[in-house]
Amino acid sequence: MNIIKVKNYEAMSKKALELVIHQLNMKKDSTLGLATGSTPVGLYQQLIVAHKNRYISFKDVKTFNLDEYIGLDRNHPESYFSFMNRHLFEHIDISEDNIHLPNNDINRLEEDVKAYNDLLSKNTIDLQILGIGTNGHIGFNEPGTPFEQETFIVDLDMKTREDNARFFDSIDSVPKQAITMGIKNIMKANHILLLASGANKAEAIKKMVDGPVDITHPASVLQLHPNCTVIVDEAAASQL
Ligand code: F6R
Repeated sequence: MNIIKVKNYEAMSKKALELVIHQLNMKKDSTLGLATGSTPVGLYQQLIVAHKNRYISFKDVKTFNLDEYIGLDRNHPESYFSFMNRHLFEHIDISEDNIHLPNNDINRLEEDVKAYNDLLSKNTIDLQILGIGTNGHIGFNEPGTPFEQETFIVDLDMKTREDNARFFDSIDSVPKQAITMGIKNIMKANHILLLASGANKAEAIKKMVDGPVDITHPASVLQLHPNCTVIVDEAAASQL
């Protein structure tokens, strides 16, 4: 693991921007794995600026998102499909055909899981962006998820639902399930870039870096990845 410590959220986003630009300069038709949540929003804002200033183009870029809630219509403002459109896709020159998120049609979930997993097995992610849950999850692979797990339907931990309640009217409105890439899918990426900011992530980062590699802390599996970069701000790195 290559750990880069920076001052704050803004510096984390800028450093991440450099790495994404480097990736796109090396390979303009890169395949990117994308995360939602608060952590990558600053990076996405910077990517939009870089695109508007004509430093980068997404014309040939393909994206695969980590996860999507079950039980929210795709057009619900808090679906990850809406989130990605709002925070990135509608501001850049990416082709709609190159954007992939798990479908979450309640009537055909098993087919949707299989279809997404098949797509992932046919595509290699060049650079996978990850956040980390306060409980150590990556994607929505909650504690206890086997490292061999592929795309699946997950029951979200109470802790995850509480953490994400800030986006909803109340905890009761937070979905109870999601479709997520499994740890096995994530680990197949050529390069993993995990971002973390804030004191509430410090314990999860400590266990990820220095703890035993164990399914009770899913992010610890990243110790086994041959090319994993972690960008942490001072608060998230405070226990290292
Ligand atoms: C999001 C995802 C999650 C988040 C994690 C941190 O697609 O898969 O693993 O990265 O829950 O969320 P934030 O960034 O909101 O703290």
